[in-house]
This record gives sequence, structure tokens and C-alpha cells, in this order.
Amino acid sequence: MESAALPTDPLFDSPFRCPQISAACLALGAGEIGEATLTERIWPLFTRVLSQNSVSLGQTQREIYLANHSLGRPLDRMAEDVRMALDLWYERLDGAWSDPCGWLAASTYFRRQVAELLGAASYQQVIPKTSAGQGLRAVLNALSDHGRVPRVVATRGEFDSCDMILKTYASKGRAEVRWVSPLSKDPIEQYSVQNLIAALRQPTDLVLCSQVLFATGQVLTDLPPLVAAAHEVGALVMVDTYHSFGVLPLQWEGPSPYSLGGADFLIGGSYKYARGGPGACWLAIHPRHLLENDSISRLTTLDTGWFAKQDPFRYERPDPPQLAAGGDAWLESTPPVLTAYQANAGLQLLREIGVGRLQRYNIQQQQQLQAVCRDRGLAMYEPSDWQQRGAFALLPHPHASGLSQRLLQRGLNTDARAGCVRFGPDLLTTADELHRAAEIVKSTLQEV
Ligand SMILES: Cc1ncc(COP(=O)(O)O)c(C=O)c1O
Repeated sequence: MESAALPTDPLFDSPFRCPQISAACLALGAGEIGEATLTERIWPLFTRVLSQNSVSLGQTQREIYLANHSLGRPLDRMAEDVRMALDLWYERLDGAWSDPCGWLAASTYFRRQVAELLGAASYQQVIPKTSAGQGLRAVLNALSDHGRVPRVVATRGEFDSCDMILKTYASKGRAEVRWVSPLSKDPIEQYSVQNLIAALRQPTDLVLCSQVLFATGQVLTDLPPLVAAAHEVGALVMVDTYHSFGVLPLQWEGPSPYSLGGADFLIGGSYKYARGGPGACWLAIHPRHLLENDSISRLTTLDTGWFAKQDPFRYERPDPPQLAAGGDAWLESTPPVLTAYQANAGLQLLREIGVGRLQRYNIQQQQQLQAVCRDRGLAMYEPSDWQQRGAFALLPHPHASGLSQRLLQRGLNTDARAGCVRFGPDLLTTADELHRAAEIVKSTLQEV
């Protein structure tokens, strides 16, 4: 989605909206973003992270932080929001739950912001979770009624958390998993939706795939035909959007290069591009599974607790339990609340700058890094289509992890996965930093 034109933003009137963030985003104007305007308008929202993050070696220069694809940098406002949640606890004690600016309202605002970014019709479709993996488990546990063992198809390229959960469920007889391998490994792993569709020839209950592969940044295109093929054989589809949420202008349904094809479930979180730190994750459920009055086809999960009840604060205990309407039926026990406060400022920034503009700016930065590396004889991975890339660039290297550690000692913060160093610039990264990063990589490689 593009920048929300305030005050037509449906969340404009929320007491949780930060006016400074809105003013800064409005001041960017409607055109493309560039380093000069970002520095003038947006950087003042990040004074803490910009002043505190210095190289432990020399202390003279800020570390070059190119691990934004891993842990996103927080806005100043994040700490103020969390402080607000804690102040409410001191001042209102249990009244903090129901205060108009309180814990439940902050969680609903979090759900509404995520729903807006996903193009979901209602915040009810977004179920707060403390990890993406928790969302996967809730769905696996919804598909295992009366001892049924869900048959799952997943790519080998899923993140460690999902990989671990699926392997553990399989080893305990709680899921049967068929793994789809990459099409090729050269120069980096490439997956294809066609292979996932081919795997549907065997009986399948759930397909799990990432929209952007975490190790390589490949965008898995053609999700709509995958969802259609899965539905044809009675399977459901879960898309892991952790590396696409806040990176690609997502559309849950409808025609778009980044359409999620009306997938049944999405999982994601705020740790990376949404700048919300750990624990602010979610499972999003397509409304077709939240039918209010159709208790037969309505999907429910074992992962439950008293917040999933109809009107939990009435403390009624019918047997069988009466579930809340809509997505609230997927809530669990007493939820964490600080995570919503942690996440809300970053989500507001994403919505108000607009993911489309951020994507175009990030691609420019990746291309710039590629060019300065090429000038220095460094062989970065060259994508054939920049529109089909996540938000980080790759340098293949046989000792990628060791190289990334040596870069860190020289003040360049990156990380490494599957034989590549990953470089993730963001809106606080300057062109000068990209030049210096290339210099550091070159001199570090010359050392060995
Ligand atoms: C694609 C993907 N999915 C999920 C996660 C996080 O999973 P969890 O929240 O279960 O730790 C990550 C984290 O890097 C990821 O890259």
C-alpha cells in the first residue's frame, strides 16, 4: 500500500497514533523518498538509536548497521509507548485493561494496524501471538481434531522456527510432513510454486511456504495459483510473511504482483521491518474460517484459553465452552500487552510512509551497494529481477558466517545464512555508509 493520506487514514482518530510520526510522514510529501528528506524528516524520530549505536572498537564512528533485515531499529516513540503501558499499571492497576488508552485498546490498535497493512477487512482476522511459530502451532492444532494427523507440505527453505516445529510434530506423530526441495542451488537456492503444486498430488491438509525466503530473499511469486490448486484438493495454505510484511506492498486477495492469493493463514511479526522488537507477532486468518453462525465449518484450535471465551470478564463457564465471535475465538490465555505498545509506533511509520515507497527506496539502496561492490571487484549476487527480491542483498562466500563476524569487528554489522552474507539497508542507511561498507568488505577479504 502507498502512504496513508492523513486524515483519511481509518486509524487517524486513535489515541495511540503518534502525532510526531504523522507530521514527519506528511512532511515527506507524496513523491518518492530520498536520503535528504529522510534525514531531515524521519531521522529525528530515531535520535536514541542513532546516537547510542557506536562501534565498540573506535567509538569515533557509528557502526554501519546493515542487519535491518534481522532486528529492525526502534523509533524513540517505542520506549514512550511502553512507558505509557507501565505508567497505566502503576496508576490504574487492573483498570489498565479497560482504560480507553489501556492494554486491551492498545492490542486492538495493534491488530487494526496489522490488518491495514495486510489488506484485511477486519482487525478480528489478526490474532496476536508472541512468535510466528506459535501461529503455525495454533493452525496445526486446529487441523488435528479427534486424532487426525495433518498432512503438511512445506519448502525446505522455511525459517528454523517453522522447520523445528514441523520436524517435532512429525517425530511425535502429530503431523506428516513432505518437504519440497529447491529447484536449483546454484548460485543460491531457488524455490518454485510449481513444485509445491506438484506435491499436492498426494493428500494434503496444509501447505506452508514463505513469501520471501529468509536465507536468500527470493520472492515466491504466483501464490494465487498455489492457493487455488490447494483449495481444489481440499488443502489450506499458510504463508509466512515475516520477510515480506513491511517490505512488499502485500495484498491478501486480488490481482497484484505480491498477492497472497487469498491464503487461509498468514504469519508474521514486528521483529524486523516493522521495528517492534521480539514478541509482537501474529497469525492472520482468512474470514472464510471465521464464520460466525456456522459452527460446523468454523475452524477452531486447541491453543485456547479464557480470552477466547465469549465475554471473558463475565467469568461464565458453560460446557462446551462458548467461543467469542470472529478471530477473538483464537485468542488464548491472559496475553502479553507490552508487545502491542512495542510494535505500534513502527507499524504506524510503515503505514504512513507507505510500503511501496519503502520498497522502491530499498531496491535503490541494494542496487547502489551492488554497484559500489562491483567497482571494487566484489561479486555480490546479481538478481535477474529486482522486483522479486526481499530487502537484503547477498554476498556468496564459502565462510560467510566467519566473514560476517570479521566485518562486525570492523564496524559493519551484517549476518550470514546458507553460504551468503546478508546486507539489509533501511531508511537510516546513507549512501556514504554503503560506500564504506563495500570498502570494509574489500579490505577484510584482502586480509585472508
Ligand atoms: C521467515 C521467518 N519466519 C519466522 C521467523 C521467526 O519465527 P518465530 O517468531 O517463530 O521465532 C523468522 C525470523 O527470522 C523468519 O525469518
